[in-house]
Amino acid sequence: MCGIVGYIGNRRAVPILLDGLKKLEYRGYDSAGVAVIEKEKLYLNRSVGKLHMLEGRINGNDHQARIGIGHTRWATHGRPSDSNSHPHTDCTGKIAVVHNGIIENFLELKEWLEAEGHVFQSETDTEVLPHLVEHYLKDDLLSAVEKMVARVRGSYATVVLSEDHPDTLVAVRKDNPLIIGVGEGEYFFASDIPAIINYTKKVMVLADGEIAVMTTQGIRVYKDGIPVDKKIDIIDWDTKAAEKGGYPHFMIKEINEQPRALRDTLTGRIAPDYSGVELKEVNLTDDEIKRIQKIAIVACGTAYHAGIVGKYVMEKILRIPVEVDIASEFRYRDPLIDENTLTVIISQSGETADTLAALREAKNRGARVVAITNVVGSSIAREADDVVYTWAGPEIAVASTKAYITQLIGVYILTMYLAKSLDMIPKEDMENILRHLYRLPNQAQEILDNLSGQLNEIAEVFKKWEDAFFVGRGLDYAVALEGSLKLKEISYVHAEAYAAGELKHGTLALIVDNIPVIALSTQPDVFEKTLSNIREIKARGAYVIGVTFEGDTELKKSVDQVIYLPQTLPLLAPVLTVVPLQMLSYYASVHRGCDVDQPRNLAKSVTVE
Ligand code: M6R
Repeated sequence: MCGIVGYIGNRRAVPILLDGLKKLEYRGYDSAGVAVIEKEKLYLNRSVGKLHMLEGRINGNDHQARIGIGHTRWATHGRPSDSNSHPHTDCTGKIAVVHNGIIENFLELKEWLEAEGHVFQSETDTEVLPHLVEHYLKDDLLSAVEKMVARVRGSYATVVLSEDHPDTLVAVRKDNPLIIGVGEGEYFFASDIPAIINYTKKVMVLADGEIAVMTTQGIRVYKDGIPVDKKIDIIDWDTKAAEKGGYPHFMIKEINEQPRALRDTLTGRIAPDYSGVELKEVNLTDDEIKRIQKIAIVACGTAYHAGIVGKYVMEKILRIPVEVDIASEFRYRDPLIDENTLTVIISQSGETADTLAALREAKNRGARVVAITNVVGSSIAREADDVVYTWAGPEIAVASTKAYITQLIGVYILTMYLAKSLDMIPKEDMENILRHLYRLPNQAQEILDNLSGQLNEIAEVFKKWEDAFFVGRGLDYAVALEGSLKLKEISYVHAEAYAAGELKHGTLALIVDNIPVIALSTQPDVFEKTLSNIREIKARGAYVIGVTFEGDTELKKSVDQVIYLPQTLPLLAPVLTVVPLQMLSYYASVHRGCDVDQPRNLAKSVTVE
């Protein structure tokens, strides 16, 4: 999604804005721009394409400005083009605005503004914003922005710059993230921490409806006209966390960080005697837990796939019915949720628009909401009743890897927490599961150390194949869904995941000679059944890559290649099974020459519907 950066201080603004935009590239974009004020005049530079195109335009125009705003745009209203790029300006060219989100009533506002004599230059919804500020601006920029906000419906994080107010930035947000970086005599606005972490670790998170006015003298924040006392958070990331650290891509760096991420997510959560788990930010009482009649898991994309694992795990252990929903469906389907439903919201970013709306829908219906999220202070973390943080660290590659694997840990530890209160798990089973959970980081490391050569070679098959299938039963099916999404999104290979028993109800017609099929077979209770399905596939000529635990003597007889995983409990297998699938997709993407970290058309954080 779009990225915003703003700067005011004593350093040159343009290099800081460009550097910040580079750090936000992971969010996905198709054009970029900056606006600065220099010697009381506003200058605008915009370009379709990647940031180097914008840099090319700025070159030779060496601005000394100390204030400015920058933007990377992911097209929603109007195609990617120079004129649709942000910042957008008013009729006079003196007011510039950057915006993330969608202005839902832009057509009616545009008609009204045109009738008032305003002339529009772009096809975007955003352009109504500078014209509204122009319309309302008398002396005070803050009051003009407040009036602008009163007219718009939709979602926005927006920063306004005005030539007539050359030492002021005004920003406001609703349903889109915006943070403020506090430096020594300098301040920053940004959509995400990586954009400013090189300059300051002091951050304020702007909340919905808050409006911030920033000058070199300081920051004031208001809500409904009343000053708000904002708390400063200190970011404890080291700047390296948001850099590639010697890896060719963020994705492979993040895949390799998984043992560490698993360890961090487990640390402090498992009792030293393996008798249970501790979740500090979950405050459900035993009585509240006993009243739960249904669990609703809601998420999007990869997080939704973690939710499907959650359904299998929770139903098996808690014996409570679990529904898993895609957030964009849940929010509009009048879900059967009430005060006896525990809603579990899963989101890496904590800002996904549909997931946030689903959270609110569940709360409106009286449900208790537990969020499993990676971003502290995100909208979802703030609005949920309880939070299970996943300590994956910043995930920059669009393709989610370490976030998914730690979401799985979130699901397991939440299940164990509920199971203990409900008395649904014998002491020795609890101990066994927790002991095995504890071993997973080292086992994930073993996979990374031992399998990359084999997976790199197997991935060569995708140099010539445009289609692939992933099959499995039970928890393997849940992981197959994630494996196929990974392959699709970063290598553009058309991949389908099927419950192994379902293939013969239509899809088997697509199995032809040598087509790659990745067959997951880690679940002993359905091993024989899956093996029969694999033989059916093999009999139709497919090139089958099996995935199972070390010690197998059967699967290898029926497939072309086997990927062996270290032994764990079948219940925990998804945490290990997904690792080779992520690596396979990564290598396939590299072999096919794709843009691994920023796949076409995709954005990291989907903050619009
Ligand atoms: O930030 P979220 O976890 O809410 O994001 C949800 C999806 O957009 C995300 O998981 C997406 O599917 C992944 N980037 C795919 O790898």
